[in-house]
Amino acid sequence: MVSLIDLNDFDLVDVENVLDRAIDIKKNVGDFSKSMVGKIMGSLFLEPSTRTQFSFQAAMMRLGGQFLGFSDPQKSSFAKGESFRDTLKIMGIYSDLLVIRHRKDGAARAASMFAGCPVINAGDGVHLHPTQTLVDLLTIRQLKGGCCGLTFGFCGDLKFGRPVNSLVRMLCRYGNNRFVFVSTKEQQISKFLRGFLEERKIGFVECGSLEEVISSLDVLYMTRVQRERFKNPVDYENQKGRFRLNKKVLGAAKSDLVVLHPLPRNDEIDCEVDSDGRAAYFLQAENGIYGRMALILQLFDEFKGRVDDCFGDAKIFNRVCLNENCITRFEVDLPQFFSEKNGYLNCSYCDESQVL
Ligand code: NCD
Repeated sequence: MVSLIDLNDFDLVDVENVLDRAIDIKKNVGDFSKSMVGKIMGSLFLEPSTRTQFSFQAAMMRLGGQFLGFSDPQKSSFAKGESFRDTLKIMGIYSDLLVIRHRKDGAARAASMFAGCPVINAGDGVHLHPTQTLVDLLTIRQLKGGCCGLTFGFCGDLKFGRPVNSLVRMLCRYGNNRFVFVSTKEQQISKFLRGFLEERKIGFVECGSLEEVISSLDVLYMTRVQRERFKNPVDYENQKGRFRLNKKVLGAAKSDLVVLHPLPRNDEIDCEVDSDGRAAYFLQAENGIYGRMALILQLFDEFKGRVDDCFGDAKIFNRVCLNENCITRFEVDLPQFFSEKNGYLNCSYCDESQVL
């Protein structure tokens, strides 16, 4: 595997290798300053980003490489009607590695078909955010000594938050972890994540009050209500501000709780929590650089000019993906890859399933 579209495409030992490498880099970042000299990273951010975008760019620069790209598609030939396919092809010619964030589910997997170089998924719609997960795992490992045998609370917008989909699926692979999902009824975990957990018979608790469960948690992962994903602004207004971590709520938590948040935050964590020793979200953002430096090095070690479309055993079926936000519903001529399992077809881009 030479692209990172979904961490579940990788063996756990490969993921652990990236984390080990990140820890080495963090100890002595200067030792790696010439590792990517002469290499160019294409940075395509078609959705807003501060941490992911700039930590990737900082990572490439700290490795001695350079980057090019855009964060506003209106300043690229997308604005002239150029297709996703052609843009990716061209950017892949100009770069040695592409990092892409896109508002459509499955866009990163589609990008890997056209780029001709390693592609990293920096967030595809409401689907996945694997590099955030690497950074989350790195931070959990640093503060908890490992990622097994812990009780994780996820709170806020669990329906649209892609970091939650990615992280929970990885944590299941570490074993012996417990999951508590705190949200409103409307913002419960995605159908995709629920299906993943149920298929593997992994138990979880769902509840509507952070106060009720905070004392049982080892790690609390707060998330923002994703305003940009709501079709109706009134629905967003009804959901925002429903969960709020402040000193009072934190008062009932374990003394060694780790509070994470992928950021940006709105009002779900009060600033007064920032000075509490349990707040780890700025450390998490800092770890973004080291995790991404390690990932870039790892993909280059493995790449060696090999082109990989990342579709594994999937086959082409004459079906339309049922997910209205799937990249295949917008980009014409994308072969409709599905994998077949237990009488269901699973879209290889966005993971939406339908009956065979
Ligand atoms: C997250 C994202 O973009 O999905 N942010 C990030 O990458 N650090 C979470 C969010 O936007 O709420």
